[in-house]
Amino acid sequence: MTVTAVFSRCTWPLLCAIALVAGASTTARAEAGRAAIDERIERLLSQMTVAEKIGQLAQVNADEGKISGKLRAAIKAGEVGSVLNAVDVATVNELQRLAVKESRLGIPLLMGRDVIHGFKTVLPIPLGQAAAWNPDLVQEGARMAALEAAASGVNWTFAPMIDVARDPRWGRIAESFGEDPYLASVLGVASIRGFQGDDLSRPGAIAACAKHFVGYGASEGGRDYGFVGIPDVELRNVHMPPFKAAVDAGVATFMAAFSDVNGVPASGNRFLMRTVLRDEWHFPGLVVSDWESIIDMTVHGFAASKKDAAFEALSAGIDMEMASTAYRDYLAKLLAEKRIDQDTLDTAVRNVLRVKFRLGLFERTVTDPSAYPAVASAANFALARRLTTQSLVLLQNRNEVLPLARASLRSLAVIGPMADDDYEQLGTWIFDGDPALSRTPLHAIREMAGPHVAVRHVRAMETTRTRTTAAFADAVAAASSADAAVLFLGEESILSGEAHSRANIDLPGNQMDLVRAVKSAGKPVIVVILAGRPLTIEPILAAADAVVYAWHPGVMAGPAIADILFGVESPSGKLPVTFPRMVGQVPIYYAHRNTGKPPIPSAFVHIDDIKVRTPQTGMKNKSQYLDAGYEPLYPFGYGLSYTRFAYSDIEVVPARARVGVPVTVRAVVKNVGKVEADEVAQLYVQDVVGSITRPVRELKGFQRVHLKPGESREVSFQLSADDLAFYGRDMQRATEPGAFHAWIGGSSTAELRADFELTAN
Ligand code: NOJ
Repeated sequence: MTVTAVFSRCTWPLLCAIALVAGASTTARAEAGRAAIDERIERLLSQMTVAEKIGQLAQVNADEGKISGKLRAAIKAGEVGSVLNAVDVATVNELQRLAVKESRLGIPLLMGRDVIHGFKTVLPIPLGQAAAWNPDLVQEGARMAALEAAASGVNWTFAPMIDVARDPRWGRIAESFGEDPYLASVLGVASIRGFQGDDLSRPGAIAACAKHFVGYGASEGGRDYGFVGIPDVELRNVHMPPFKAAVDAGVATFMAAFSDVNGVPASGNRFLMRTVLRDEWHFPGLVVSDWESIIDMTVHGFAASKKDAAFEALSAGIDMEMASTAYRDYLAKLLAEKRIDQDTLDTAVRNVLRVKFRLGLFERTVTDPSAYPAVASAANFALARRLTTQSLVLLQNRNEVLPLARASLRSLAVIGPMADDDYEQLGTWIFDGDPALSRTPLHAIREMAGPHVAVRHVRAMETTRTRTTAAFADAVAAASSADAAVLFLGEESILSGEAHSRANIDLPGNQMDLVRAVKSAGKPVIVVILAGRPLTIEPILAAADAVVYAWHPGVMAGPAIADILFGVESPSGKLPVTFPRMVGQVPIYYAHRNTGKPPIPSAFVHIDDIKVRTPQTGMKNKSQYLDAGYEPLYPFGYGLSYTRFAYSDIEVVPARARVGVPVTVRAVVKNVGKVEADEVAQLYVQDVVGSITRPVRELKGFQRVHLKPGESREVSFQLSADDLAFYGRDMQRATEPGAFHAWIGGSSTAELRADFELTAN
């Protein structure tokens, strides 16, 4: 394929460029490798019975650490293609031995596991990783997780989750890279590169899985598994780009969403799985269902029976069935009845075998942990600390209460249910994590503060949901006798993640009252929030001098947070998702469309200030809430630092160009404060008039720069026609000529703007 051909199919050309450069030298070798694999697949396929073919499409759940007689027999009979959730290396080796040595054709197993944010070394939840806006570290983190998992025999992770998530009620927002298609694409590709490396057959590389295709992040009402009603054009412009980028990056597998997408569950959705994924994007890999999502189609009311569900799923192009057994139970019958043809079955089997060959499983079925780097090593912890430190977002810092001055500090009160909880700091999906490895904030603060600082700890609440205030007096007493109080609040791991949506996203329990009580002690109050989602924290802003948002930070929460509190590092995290003031504003995201009557400050009257008998049209008709206004609490891309950055000299070169000629947008960013720090410079673009309306701004690039006080740097972004393309009224992807605005700055509300124009010729 020519470079131009690749680019013409590419959603994010920059990402494709990286893929191309990395791949160029190996293209010929890769093609030869592909041909050899195809030959091996056909040879194997020609020897397989129908039962063995159907067996390859079955993914069976293992009871952790145990191999039941049933599983043993099924593997020996060639009736299992993949096992999920076996991670004890002896068990994994035995399972592979059964498949390779005791089944007729000796086909090894795909060993799947949810390695979502680390394996033994638990990294921040993906939403936290996204807040670091650092693809290199995300890639390193995935690489580290792959090596740790591979040492246990895992060869397939169900990650990254690249669903665009714009609803903080949805528990799985924790597993996402946030609300923006571009950010999710860049970080998704980084994870895939980390998991898979350059060559999937190298030891330590594991197959990644782009999930959940597609629209799952838009579950109605933020309720997990909810209906997804999104026009196709919106699916293509917002929800599909990260998945397209994953295909371009060579992701080995895809997972279907649980969702009913516009009336057709993803697991039976031929438009998504065949028309888009296979026919348009030419995805050559394996598509797995989600957990029992094939038989769930009977519950959706889309299939009358499990047999019909199997028919719909295979016809749609779902190659492997996770956990349920509709394929095992009905595919042979469907084949005999000629509802399914041989070719459809064979194609699915080929897709499974291709991943096995790409992974080199036929050559290497025994896992020897001693051949891998140590898990949970000092090096892995150091990486986790770097990533966590960069993921912390400083939301408020009144009177520069942070960083705490270690030299003059004599005493500190450390308060709250999340200060010393080695489990809850890890977040959702930590099957293989070990709380005993966690470094908690309390421990790290004690260590970093040193012996001359008296650190007093009061948990004050049993959990974040505790309603009694019995221990508040101790917390207030501790704060009164300290130089400052640091509260660790938030929500436990179990309050986010799959099937853990919340309708009220306030700080649970009596945490609000705890902040107010501690404030009454009259000392500086610093609040650190550990949570799996944006919470509606506006009420604490008056009582807290500083607020740090830590997400669920993982194993190195303590040292990373202490680094920020004591100013060893300046905060540099930026929000990957908009923070609402009230849950009723949801969905609220920066890349929204304008309305015909957008809000303006002069037309806003708060509900409390509306005069009696104001005539209906007396307040001007604007798109806003009377009680919440029209702005979020914090915008996408926002995050403070211990220094300040000034942006200037923005220009677009050329400012007028033909569609197809790349333009460069650049600006100068200067550290005008007193400490050296990282800044994430962000580029946003608006296509002013389109054949369909366009978002008011869209992220098109970002760059993390490190600047010393007084230092400045030019940040520069090249935009190709493809970067500005979108699916328009005719459902064709194109770049439309016309006027564009470009902003560069430190958040999605950046004001420094330059304009450019693209002409048709
Ligand atoms: C269901 C989840 O939706 C999916 O993301 C996960 O990978 C599978 N279960 C396997 O645990």
